Formats: sequence, C-alpha cells, structure tokens
Amino acid sequence: MSAPPTSSTVTPHPDPPTGVVGFTAMADGTAEDYALLDRHERAHARGLADRVLVALGALSDSLGGYRVTRLEHSLQSATLARREGADRDWVVAALLHDLGDELAPSNHGAYAASILEPYVREEVTWVVRHHGVFQAWYYAHHLGGDRHARDRYRDHPWAELCEQFCERWDQAAFDPDGPIDPLSSFEDDVRAVFARTPWDPAVVGPGAGRLV
Ligand SMILES: [Fe+2]
Ligand SMILES: [Fe+2]
Repeated sequence: MSAPPTSSTVTPHPDPPTGVVGFTAMADGTAEDYALLDRHERAHARGLADRVLVALGALSDSLGGYRVTRLEHSLQSATLARREGADRDWVVAALLHDLGDELAPSNHGAYAASILEPYVREEVTWVVRHHGVFQAWYYAHHLGGDRHARDRYRDHPWAELCEQFCERWDQAAFDPDGPIDPLSSFEDDVRAVFARTPWDPAVVGPGAGRLV
C-alpha cells in the first residue's frame, strides 16, 4: 500500500489570493473586503479534496483494537463497493463514512455526511449519516444495547439501502487478509466528487435508490 498523504505531501493550489481585510469586526467590512474574502474562500474550497485525502490518511493512526486500522477499514469498505460495481458517489461515501471517528466519535456518521452532502446524491448522504445506528445491529446486544434501534427508520425510503451498505461494505470490512486497494487508487474519485458544484440540484437530488 502506498503511504497515505500528509499535509506536507499534498500540493497546495497554485496562485492563492493574497491580502487581508481592513476590518476587525465584520460589521465594519467593505465590499472590497468581502470580495477579497470571497476569493480566499473559493481558493480554499478548491483544496477540499486535498484536505479530505490528508484526513483519510490520518486514519492510519486512529481508533485501535481492530485487526485493521481505521484507514484500512475505510479502504476495504470502498474497495468492496468498487469491486461490486458501485458508482462514484457510493465508493467515495464508503471511503469517507468513518472519517468522523477522530473528532466526532459520538456522532461520526453526521460528520461524514456533512462533508459529503453538498456533493452526492440524497440517499448516499442519508445512508452515511445513519450508518452508525444500522451498524449497531451487529454488536449492540453484546454491550447491553438495542440492536433493533434501526427499526425506528423501518419506513424510511433509504432504510434498506443503509442496511445493505452496512451488511456488504461496512461490517464486512475488517479483514486484514481481504482486499484493500491503496488510497491513491481512490484519489481521482475523491477529486471528482469535490470538484462538483456544491448543492447542484442535478447532483444532490434522490437517485435510483440502489447500491449497485
Ligand atoms: Fe461507522
Ligand atoms: Fe465503518
């Protein structure tokens, strides 16, 4: 497996804007100040895929106890999705679904869903946001919890998708001897997703409601 990217190995976008605003309180900002900030924000947004790749790489040193690292789990999840023929939205969702383990351990599905939501289909975001409660089916009863907690979503149109996502690409992706494609092999997909226009109605609407 190739070394995961780090903040020092990702190339910053060329020609970032320069300069700072004149205000110290936003109420005092001018049109020129906000035009400058808009250019900074657009340049920053162009670096999103790089930052996502760096954050994924950092999962190589994360939650322990499993036979694979969090990065390997994420890669195996995306690898399984890709090898089943899943499209780009699902592959990138599988790759990112546990990205929140580092900073949002009690709400990690919502963390990843928030990153993906402006760039992927509606049901993909929903599945990532709710995968934690569906995944609990596999272990909650061993810890005195309710493995049936996912039943509260039984009538939701994307519930079956989330169940299948967990069954095929999440709970099954903890095998050090299973397929684990390198992070570099997913870079084009990550860059393509985050190069989309955020909240494009042609992208973020509901799809066919299938994993593959
Ligand atoms: Fe998860
Ligand atoms: Fe997972």
